[in-house]
Amino acid sequence: MCGIVGILGKEAVATQVVEALRRLEYRGYDSAGVATLENGLLTRRRAEGKLRNLEIRLSNEPLEGLIGIGHTRWATHGKPNETNAHPHATAKLAVVHNGIIENFRELRAELQSDGYVFATETDTEIVAHLVTRELDRGKSPTDAVAASLPRLRGAFALAFLFQGEEDLLIGARKGSPLAVGIGDGEMYLGSDALALAPFTNLIAYLEEGDWVVLHRKSATFYDKANNPVERRAQRVAAGALLVEKGNHRHFMAKEIYEQPEVVGHTLTQYLDMAAGRVRLPFADKIDWTSLSRLSIAACGTSYYAGLIAKYWFERLARLPVEIDVASEFRYREAPLPDNGLALFISQSGETADTLACLRYARQERQVISAIVNVATSTMARESDVVAPTLAGPEIGVASTKGFTCQLAALACLALAAARARGHLSAEDEARHVQNLIALPGLMANALALEPQIEKLARELSKAKDVLYLGRGTSFPLALEGALKLKEISYIHAEGYPAGELKHGPIALIDEAMPVIVVAPHDALFEKTASNMQEVAARGGRIILITNAKGAAECGIEPETTIIMPDVDPTFAAIVYALPIQMIAYQTAVFMGKDADQPRNLAKSVTVE
Ligand code: M6R
Repeated sequence: MCGIVGILGKEAVATQVVEALRRLEYRGYDSAGVATLENGLLTRRRAEGKLRNLEIRLSNEPLEGLIGIGHTRWATHGKPNETNAHPHATAKLAVVHNGIIENFRELRAELQSDGYVFATETDTEIVAHLVTRELDRGKSPTDAVAASLPRLRGAFALAFLFQGEEDLLIGARKGSPLAVGIGDGEMYLGSDALALAPFTNLIAYLEEGDWVVLHRKSATFYDKANNPVERRAQRVAAGALLVEKGNHRHFMAKEIYEQPEVVGHTLTQYLDMAAGRVRLPFADKIDWTSLSRLSIAACGTSYYAGLIAKYWFERLARLPVEIDVASEFRYREAPLPDNGLALFISQSGETADTLACLRYARQERQVISAIVNVATSTMARESDVVAPTLAGPEIGVASTKGFTCQLAALACLALAAARARGHLSAEDEARHVQNLIALPGLMANALALEPQIEKLARELSKAKDVLYLGRGTSFPLALEGALKLKEISYIHAEGYPAGELKHGPIALIDEAMPVIVVAPHDALFEKTASNMQEVAARGGRIILITNAKGAAECGIEPETTIIMPDVDPTFAAIVYALPIQMIAYQTAVFMGKDADQPRNLAKSVTVE
């Protein structure tokens, strides 16, 4: 998660760019850089380490340009040194980037074979060369960007500056946020509105897939099909900028939409993306080989994340997992193995029941590990090993981005365990890592399903009860779907393993009962399809969440089919979580419920 800035100003902009970057430093501070046009020529200043180092460089070698872009980096591909610092440039343009370009390897090979020479280890540099190739073919900067964006897979926000173009900046977003600030004869781009607060509070947000062409006196927005679109600018109150909802009605919606970015950010902590390897920062603190069992405890959504991870640890690493809801575990007096590893999962890091389990495990001389989103929380402080999720503050009471970031961290842990325990070849590790790198881009694609889900939500809002079904990792997702719907729409919902249906809950099926089936086309799909037949035969209303192959082979005609992008089955739950969350959110909103602060609940449950 990096921070990007662009300014079309009336005076020298380098100081303003640095000021905006300071407000984005929370997004990364491995290196920073600025590019401006000095007499029409691209000129860069970059420095390793914190922004302060860039400021020193700029005070020794000032920049005078009236147009500029800037970047503060959180390294994903390549070391955090000056060479890899943004902006990346060719003779014709400079670019700053936040996110991950998933297909950078194939694009780099293609560009190299066309004679383009790479100077860095970053994924971003391919964007610079890709657009330059279009310029070399005679296109205008705007057409060159339009032609290049569809080639990029992954999640990204970009800002471009072109040699000789004193009145042009181009920005683009897919999966990572980007705001446009409108000034008086000046224009701004920033990763968030807070970065732009010293200059303007008139803000327009790019929507998913949008790109924007900025001149000092105009901003022209295009959607992903390159059609001009209107994105209304709104005045954002100064106080609201601190924790802003952007274009969204609720924090929950904003947090759902942040997932491609924050999951990408979380993954970069645990993966060496360039090498295609898992690299845990605390690798030396866990001896996976000597473990006979992993004990997990958590509550609510975090518990469901643990349940999904159980499938990964057991299947990939052959490591038995015992998992329990924390309120049960804490009084169960479970015997724990000598020198065992106990894992606690919590967004807040403060949940009373989970914390009590952690302390029990400490007494039982377990190695204590925790996956937490709040790095300063009690659980983080009381653990031997902390695996942070980088979801950022989660304001909505219903956990969304906290959940998918937990899954991202757990997937990396499971792969590390599998490798250490000798159950994963280097080749398979590289394949899984590539599949994880693909997730943010696939999540961004899944968000495009929202209009269909909005329609579905109108129907669901009439239901009194809803059943969610799934097999394998889709079973805990079914539980999570039911929890989400219950907690914010107050519609009664239950999650079941699809195979358990005939052992009781099938008695509930009638024409009034929506049955949401989570079924990516994986090894268990045929079994789930049989369960769907059983529901269909009894008049049940099936809402199927699957991919194109699943839709073609399900053998029934569901009332609604939500067709997901193709995702490798192992970690598909991380992408399938999104429609599950959107269904609950849209249903609650349609019913006029407060999705952010549902009745009777609290964000952090610090009492028993
Ligand atoms: O902060 P934690 O992850 O420990 O919280 C656990 C649960 O209270 C939490 O996941 C709760 O179930 C959410 N409201 C679910 O959306």
